Amino acid sequence: MLNLFKKETPITEVFPMNFVDIHSHLLPGIDDGAKSMEHTIEMISTMDAYGIQNFITTPHVLGNVWKNSSDTILDKLDLVLEELEKRDMSYIKFDAAAEYMLDEEFVKLLQERDLLTLREDSLLVEMSFLQAPVNLFEMIFDIQLAGYKPILAHPERYGFYHADFDMYHKLKDAGCRFQINLLSLTGHYGKSVQKTAEKLIEKGMIDLAGSDTHHMHHLQTLKKIGTKRNLKLLAPILKNNIEFYR
Ligand SMILES: [Fe+2]
Repeated sequence: MLNLFKKETPITEVFPMNFVDIHSHLLPGIDDGAKSMEHTIEMISTMDAYGIQNFITTPHVLGNVWKNSSDTILDKLDLVLEELEKRDMSYIKFDAAAEYMLDEEFVKLLQERDLLTLREDSLLVEMSFLQAPVNLFEMIFDIQLAGYKPILAHPERYGFYHADFDMYHKLKDAGCRFQINLLSLTGHYGKSVQKTAEKLIEKGMIDLAGSDTHHMHHLQTLKKIGTKRNLKLLAPILKNNIEFYR
């Protein structure tokens, strides 16, 4: 049956030229993302086929769970760059920063200024999905005081704000930029996350987008992104990502 409203754009036509994916977990064996160099290359190659050739990958730095340092991250980055070269894939622009959980460990790293940034001074930060830190606004202020600009990862995924939308306005007013997960628009994290993602975009509150790819299943699901509605919502945001290579 012909249904014009259901027509979807293939994933290969979704991303503008020079799109930079600023949120992913592609470094091998240092968080809950890529488990091995094979997985790393498989995911990069798949995204390459989707039309994404620029990456700033962002492994978790999370308390005692993922105790990554700038050194461990940059060492893995070097290994991936070597592997890309070996496989004649040096046309892929691949860099690393981190996704920092706003926790006690982060406070220490901030004091030491031992942080990997997106571009010169932007920090990708996340919160627990259960609750925001009690001193959230103090932390945001301290980040800025230390000379960094906070980007809050996947604001739409914090369920505790769904019925408290004003908190999103407060976070924007406090100077946070928002990075949406592309998968949120596919329904991957549930209807409530999808609705909140759409609302945040419609209100012009989303600055950037990221794949937050952890494994191949995410990349399979990402193929569903190309609905007419999603592409319209995403068009201005995907362009912002182009400007985002340091
Ligand atoms: Fe992430």
